[in-house]
Amino acid sequence: MKELEFCYGSVTERTDNELVFVRSAKDAKKAVTRAAGGNQLFAVTDENVARLYPELLPKNNVYVIDAGEESKTLAVVQKICRAMLESGMTRNAVVAAFGGGVTGDIAGFVSSVYMRGVEFCNVPTTLLAQVDSAIGGKTAVNLDGYKNMIGSFKMPSRIIICPELLSTLPSREWRSGLGELVKTAFLCEELYGFVKENIAELVNRVPLAAQKAVEKAARFKKKITDEDFTEKGTRKILNLGHTVGHALEKCDGHKYSHGEYVLLGMKIEFEMLSIADTNAEFAAESGKLLGAAGLPALPNISPEEVTAAAKTDKKNSNGKISVIGLAGAGKAFESEFSATEFCSAYSKAVNALINKGELSRVGNQN
Ligand SMILES: NC(=O)c1ccc[n+]([C@@H]2O[C@H](COP(=O)([O-])OP(=O)(O)OC[C@H]3O[C@@H](n4cnc5c(N)ncnc54)[C@H](O)[C@@H]3O)[C@@H](O)[C@H]2O)c1
Repeated sequence: MKELEFCYGSVTERTDNELVFVRSAKDAKKAVTRAAGGNQLFAVTDENVARLYPELLPKNNVYVIDAGEESKTLAVVQKICRAMLESGMTRNAVVAAFGGGVTGDIAGFVSSVYMRGVEFCNVPTTLLAQVDSAIGGKTAVNLDGYKNMIGSFKMPSRIIICPELLSTLPSREWRSGLGELVKTAFLCEELYGFVKENIAELVNRVPLAAQKAVEKAARFKKKITDEDFTEKGTRKILNLGHTVGHALEKCDGHKYSHGEYVLLGMKIEFEMLSIADTNAEFAAESGKLLGAAGLPALPNISPEEVTAAAKTDKKNSNGKISVIGLAGAGKAFESEFSATEFCSAYSKAVNALINKGELSRVGNQN
């Protein structure tokens, strides 16, 4: 297997959205110090990362949030901004996130609004964040249970990726990251081939396979988000599985992890868009991959509730619900449904999948 590319040490110019791969927590800390370039550093982390990786964090100016989605609120943003002000952080400060997607989304948002914006650097510590959320500059907090309703586009100066930090990740969080990794693989032919061949190693957390997949996925996401920072075009494809996934997540009260809802979202959306009619071989392969990655049982939520939640999705325009489909690996397209069409297609897709034995409902697992 190819050695990971270690950019640290050879970086001389500061460019936005730069990926830096490092071997250890110590190297990650050094890379952050270098990214700050002598400016004040303010770290945001969560309670678990603070406990597991004290060596990753600076000694002072660290704000520790409660772990979990519930922290993604404007109230937490305000508390962090207040702590920054009390610590004497000026417009030259650099905010550094050490954590998963929750920490990154909050810290990124803080960096985009504190004193009208300061520099941001991200050290993702979950699989989901290393392959997806840390890259591309989307930041957000939630509003009234609706995901990511208040946010900004704020490109981090550096994303410092250390796959070694993933060794302590609970298995549920690993599965969540696998959901986003499989999604990225469906969009990127090269990664798809790798993930298909190595799915058992990835499920079993074999470090070399994971490192290689993380590197490929991170580079793919960077390429797409560099091309279309504010999601006017190509970037929309990254929402694969997210229309149904986000709607289920909202209605189900976040009982599963984000990546598990994305797995369910992809399974149902593929059926809604009849991908088996377009590409039967890919439909069969993708079904196997979703199963191997840990497709969970479908929560008991009515199609009407799912549709109501999908109607509030940020990707929608002109009153239509946007769903990303695939004609094969790397061949994404956008499809639009009226609310009535969406509700009917969702309902038919779920019934068909259950009848085929490809999906089970919570409480009805065999
Ligand atoms: N900004 C984006 O583009 C984007 C993309 C996808 C998802 N997201 C957001 O990301 C969030 C989900 O991110 P997540 O899955 O990383 O969740 P998370 O940040 O809540 O982390 C999951 C859990 O893992 C723990 N953890 C983190 N690193 C660890 C480590 N190295 N070892 C042990 N435990 C560790 C955390 O404390 C937490 O309990 C959601 O809010 C989602 O909306 C954002």
